[in-house]
Amino acid sequence: MADKPATATLSFGGRSLELPMQSPSVGPDVIDIRKLYAEGDIFTYDPGYTSTASCMSTITYIDGDRGELLHRGYPIDQLAQKSHFLEVCYLLLYGELPTAGQLEDFETRVTRHTMLHEQMLYFFRGFRRDAHPMAIMVGVVGAMSAFYHDSTDIADPWQREVAAIRMIAKMPTIAAWAYKYSIGQPFVYPKNSLDYAANFLNMCFAVPAEDYVVDPILSKAMDRIMMLHADHEQNASTSTVRLAGSSGANPFASIAAGIACLWGPAHGGANQACLEMLREIGTVDRIPEYIARAKDKDDPFRLMGFGHRVYKNFDPRAKVMKESADEVLALLGVEDNETLKVAKELERIALEDDFFVEKKLYPNVDFYSGIILNAMGFPTSMFTPIFALSRTVGWISQWKEMIADPQQKIGRPRQLYTGAGRRDYIEVEDR
Ligand code: ACO
Repeated sequence: MADKPATATLSFGGRSLELPMQSPSVGPDVIDIRKLYAEGDIFTYDPGYTSTASCMSTITYIDGDRGELLHRGYPIDQLAQKSHFLEVCYLLLYGELPTAGQLEDFETRVTRHTMLHEQMLYFFRGFRRDAHPMAIMVGVVGAMSAFYHDSTDIADPWQREVAAIRMIAKMPTIAAWAYKYSIGQPFVYPKNSLDYAANFLNMCFAVPAEDYVVDPILSKAMDRIMMLHADHEQNASTSTVRLAGSSGANPFASIAAGIACLWGPAHGGANQACLEMLREIGTVDRIPEYIARAKDKDDPFRLMGFGHRVYKNFDPRAKVMKESADEVLALLGVEDNETLKVAKELERIALEDDFFVEKKLYPNVDFYSGIILNAMGFPTSMFTPIFALSRTVGWISQWKEMIADPQQKIGRPRQLYTGAGRRDYIEVEDR
C-alpha cells in the first residue's frame, strides 16, 4: 500500500499551496486548511459543513456508510444490550468504562444533584400553561446560570465538573416539570431511591393523590432511549453548544443554545414530526400517497424519521429502537397499534423503493422512538425534551473537551459575500 501523502497540493489562479494532512485514528484523512487564508488569501465554501471537520474529538465516531456508531470505541448496539445510561454518561465524560467503585461514586454524585433550586419553581410559573415544554427548557436551562453561580467559571476544572454533573442530574427534573406545568399538575420532586430513568418516569407520571409504581420494563426502555440519544459527534446541536461555548459563555447558557437548535424538525424535533406524520397517514392503504409526495420535487413534504446527514445505511440506533418498540408495545398490550403497523409497512415499502434506495434514505433514530414514547403515555410535545435530556451528557462532554483543548479558538466562520460592493449613502428624498 502506498504511503499516505503528508501534504495536499491546492492549485488556483496560477499558484499552488502545500497543505498539511492529518490522519485520524479511524475515518477519512483531513486536509488542514488553517493557514489557507493567511498564506493563500482565499477561503473555502462549505455551507452545512458537509466536508469540514470543525474540531478534534476523541468521544464519538460514526461510520455513516457502515451504519456504525462508536462511543469511545464501543459500538452502540453492545452498549444498548449490556450497559445502562449512567454508565454510558461516565464513558462519554471520562473516556473509559468505570470500575464498580467509580460507577457507584458517579451515580451517587448525579443522584445528589437531582433537585432544583427551590426559587426555580417560580420561574416555571411565569410561563403560559400552553407553552411548549421545549420553550420552557430553553428558558429554564439558560436561567440555571443565574442560580448556580459557583459553577460558571469555565477556567476552573472543578467548576466545569460540577456544572456537568448538575446538568446531567437536573435535566430530567426540568423536563418533567415542564411537562407537569403544561398539564396543570403539581411538580413531583425527584426520588433518589429510584434509578435515573425510573426517577424521570416517576416525576412525569406520579401524582400526590395516588401511588405510582414504575414498571421496570418501562424504565429499562426509557433508559435505552436515553442511551441511544446520549451523543452523536458534531451534529447541529452539539456544534451549536461548541460554538456558543467557544466565546467563553458559561455551560448553562451554551447548553440552552444547544436545546434551541435541537428543537427544529430537521433535528430533534423530527420525533414529534414523525409520529404526527404516521398518525396523519393513519392507515396502511394511504402509504403510497405519502411515498409519492416524498418523491415529488414540487412538494416540500419529506418522510420524517428518514434520512441522515451522516448515515447512508441503517441508523444503528433505529435497529435497537425498533426492538424496544416491539417489547414495550407487547408489555402494554398494544401490539395491534395502527400507527406501528403504518410505521412497519412504510419502512418496508421505502426500503424497497428505488428513490429511497438510490438516495440511501434509511430510517433514523426518530422513526421508532415516538411510537415507544407515545405508548408509555408521553404526548408528542415531550418527545424532543426527552431527546434533550438524553443528549445533555453528549453536549457537556463535548463542551468540556473543547474547553480543555489548547487549540480551542472562538468559532468564527467566514463567508462568500454576494451583496452590494461599497456605495455611498443616498439621502431619503433622492431614493
Ligand atoms: N424524505 C424524502 N426525501 C428526502 C428525505 C426524506 N426524509 N431526506 C432527504 N431527502 C432527499 C432530498 O430531497 C435530497 O434530494 P435531491 O438530491 O434530489 O435534492 C436528498 O435526499 C439529500 O437530502 P439533503 O436534504 O440534501 O440531505 P441532508 O444531509 O442535508 O439532510 C436530513 C439530512 C435533514 C436529516 C434529511 O434527511 C431530512 O430532512 N430528514 C427528515 C427529518 C428527520 O428525520 N430528521 C432527523 C435526523 S436524525 C436526528 O436529528 C436525530
